[in-house]
Amino acid sequence: MTIILGLEGTAWNLSAALVSEERVIYEAESTYKPEYGGIHPREAAQHHASELKNVVARALRGADKEKEGFSLDIIDAIAFSQGPGMGPCLRTVATAARALSISLKIPLIGVNHCVAHIEIGRWQCGTKDPVVLYVSGANSQVLAYRADRYRILGETLDIGIGNALDKFARYLRLSHPGGPKIEELASKGTKYVYMPYVVKGMDLSFSGLTTAAKDAFDLHLEEKADICYSFQETAFAMLTEVTERAMSHCGKDDMLLAGGVGANRRLQQMLQTMCHDREARFYVPEAKYLKDNGAMIAYLGLLMLKSGDTTPIEKSEVNPNYRPDEVEVTWRDVE
Ligand code: ATP
Ligand code: FE2
Repeated sequence: MTIILGLEGTAWNLSAALVSEERVIYEAESTYKPEYGGIHPREAAQHHASELKNVVARALRGADKEKEGFSLDIIDAIAFSQGPGMGPCLRTVATAARALSISLKIPLIGVNHCVAHIEIGRWQCGTKDPVVLYVSGANSQVLAYRADRYRILGETLDIGIGNALDKFARYLRLSHPGGPKIEELASKGTKYVYMPYVVKGMDLSFSGLTTAAKDAFDLHLEEKADICYSFQETAFAMLTEVTERAMSHCGKDDMLLAGGVGANRRLQQMLQTMCHDREARFYVPEAKYLKDNGAMIAYLGLLMLKSGDTTPIEKSEVNPNYRPDEVEVTWRDVE
């Protein structure tokens, strides 16, 4: 059995997990919660620095309770998020990962956070070759595998859908994260208020939606619930349109949802309907594997270790703009 310790801390969630070939053994996390407003990168990084030791210790203790005698010396490699994410957060976690790798004399594996979202979804759902819709705070991308890479077929041209929802939620004085609160409000909406639907080829834009929603709110003519409902209907229809076109172009019949916004039931429903209409299969992992989690980092680390893909210390510098298509996929054998 190979056991990997994965460390995730690209944004506000710090998480450590132990994963083997068979299962996620244990995961511990600590979430930074801003007192007001959005995530402040330096404060989030300070949170990670002060919580890291505790989170790793909790992951090991939790695993040990399962009576398999887990301690640092049974770990085969350390995996960490090398990017994308907030620079100060990435650097804090990378420093801890390097220190563990050196002191335990085990390999270090820098993983791409977006690719980790995809691989844990494929593992948990058992889908081989899906078109992936990856929707989180900072990212919104449609991807598919071809010739050793996850190719980005379409993506947001400005902000991620999660950030768009969070920004509008903040305007409504709702606390971070705003996505689930908007979903709750939207479920009570009935009237569609005009919102800009911006799809350019395979790409999307969400910043105009946030502005339109703020304007509609300022005019006091529409119900809050109706604005949230319209925001969601518009944004999710845009995402569904692009995902469907990607499936059609690639001729793939599986679709996988990834990223924190994937927890939204209305988005799931729209994608499910689209897949059903084209006789395709729709996959969505458990919510804990949609949002940022250490298990996905450990799992991709495991796949990379098995294909001999490790990261020497001198190449372990973080990359806040690391794109998934920069990664050469060494662990997949099926096209
Ligand atoms: P990444 O680094 O991949 O961009 P992230 O740091 O944004 O990830 P995730 O946990 O993947 O983290 O996603 C968080 C986002 O998901 C937040 O913007 C949050 O508002 C949104 N979100 C969570 N639940 C829901 C929901 N039910 N509906 C809509 N959005 C949601
Ligand atoms: Fe993420």
